[in-house]
Amino acid sequence: MWKIFGGVKKEDAPGDSFADKKPNVDLLNGNCLECGSCHTVLSLLNFTPLTISKCTQCESSNFIPYSIKGFWLYRPLGGGGMGSVYKAVHQDYPDKEFAVKILPREGKENPHLIEALIQEATIGKTFGQHPHLASVSDFGNYNGEYFSAMEFCAGRRLDQIIESAEQIPQRLVLLWALQILSAEQRMFECGYLYRDLKPQNIIIDNEGNAHVFDYGLCVRIEDAHNQDVETVDGSPLYMPPERIVGMPENMSGEIYSLGMVMFHALTKSTYYTATGAYEVARKHVTSLRMANVGTRLPITVSPKIAEILDRMIARVPAERYQTYKDAAMAIKNVYNSFKD
Ligand SMILES: Nc1ncnc2c1ncn2[C@@H]1O[C@H](COP(=O)(O)OP(=O)(O)O)[C@@H](O)[C@H]1O
Ligand SMILES: [Mg+2]
Repeated sequence: MWKIFGGVKKEDAPGDSFADKKPNVDLLNGNCLECGSCHTVLSLLNFTPLTISKCTQCESSNFIPYSIKGFWLYRPLGGGGMGSVYKAVHQDYPDKEFAVKILPREGKENPHLIEALIQEATIGKTFGQHPHLASVSDFGNYNGEYFSAMEFCAGRRLDQIIESAEQIPQRLVLLWALQILSAEQRMFECGYLYRDLKPQNIIIDNEGNAHVFDYGLCVRIEDAHNQDVETVDGSPLYMPPERIVGMPENMSGEIYSLGMVMFHALTKSTYYTATGAYEVARKHVTSLRMANVGTRLPITVSPKIAEILDRMIARVPAERYQTYKDAAMAIKNVYNSFKD
């Protein structure tokens, strides 16, 4: 198989003592942590949780874990103003790994952030188990703190893969598209549109399979009508034009975003480039499209894929595939025509 993890960049590679080693849960339950460098057992009571602190013996940096409802959050994964995500283990399931989202320190009391966190987890929970969706394991309020715990998807984010890979084989891009469409189909059957498809919200695991996570922008299908065009949610680079102008959205808008993600993965550049978010958004709506996608893809990419992408990213929603199943059928035909 093509090695997705071939060119791991320096900043992605585990190097720091606290980077990726699973902590000893028995020690944590006793409120202790083993220093990643010198293995001295440190008492957690002497440190501030969720900070990087120096070992009292060897001075190397350790991330200080934090416990919430049996989950031990032991490594920061990312997140912004809306929530902070940490890799975690659970005291009762030491072999499993989780991604736990909590509110940032300055936002813990913010009712809008609390509502957003709980809503995202509630929606994610309704999707249940699906091979290409990160499942929600637990969420709620524990001792006054709100949290959402998901299955941890091991692998690398698609944006990191796009950046470091020379060229991603077209067959893989088609496979990921099929897997994402099946994930979208599950969400649709539960009554939701995802609305945040972008490489940053897709993880490719070690077997080369795609997983979608981050349900922060999911909305019920009947509510997918942006009333307030002044504030538009989502990444402008992959956003369907109907959201920008405040028209109702449906499956074809998600198919548009997926087409934009596929284009990015195949070419290593986004379909539209502009300096500001507003400028990019304006291009989705107004920019003249003289040429078809084929003229912008590497010559090694099949013209059949160009044809499919042209239809996925048509500006007028009615000209796109109308259902995930229709898009999947077209992609599958091309996918099956490639040999391993
Ligand atoms: N289920 C998960 N498995 C693995 N990593 C995750 C998971 N959920 C989130 N992450 C990591 O945490 C980061 C932030 O999570 P995300 O839910 O996308 O937050 P935000 O709303 O800030 O975009 C992601 O970019 C990803 O690296
Ligand atoms: Mg995200």
